[in-house]
Amino acid sequence: MAVFTPEEQSRFEEELGLVLARFPEDQKGAALLEAFHIVQDILGWVPDKAVELVARELGLPLVRAYEVRSFYTMFHLEKPGGHVLEVCTNVSCACRGAQEIVDRVCERFGLAPGETSADGRVTLKTVECLGSCGTAPMLAHNGEYVEEVDEAALENLIKEIEGD
Ligand code: FES
Repeated sequence: MAVFTPEEQSRFEEELGLVLARFPEDQKGAALLEAFHIVQDILGWVPDKAVELVARELGLPLVRAYEVRSFYTMFHLEKPGGHVLEVCTNVSCACRGAQEIVDRVCERFGLAPGETSADGRVTLKTVECLGSCGTAPMLAHNGEYVEEVDEAALENLIKEIEGD
């Protein structure tokens, strides 16, 4: 089964072509992260078939492409829910209540870190430092940073998601 529909395939080729134009021919592998971002923008996640396609396009060993996809938590290995919550649990955020955020989200949506709720509404990930330590605790909601998350802010976010 193809990775993309014909329209998606055209978009992938066009966007990857623009990226590869910036790299020397023998350094195409350096575009790996950008290629995965393109795939995720199109599909919402990076399935195995896309990893194989990207590895072929960039002339990389398949294992290299797989290890990069699995190393970076911003790439989804499964189709995520409509709301992706990435809660930073690194030092600054941990010291300022990250675990409470994780616990509250788990309890309200009936899931565990790394899971998607049964209704497909929410995916929760715990992630390493997102570079916003000065505004800890923080999380990313569909890629948008939500900083200095206190009880009220978290409750508002949960209600917004529940009402969606
Ligand atoms: S420790 Fe959470 S953003 Fe850096």
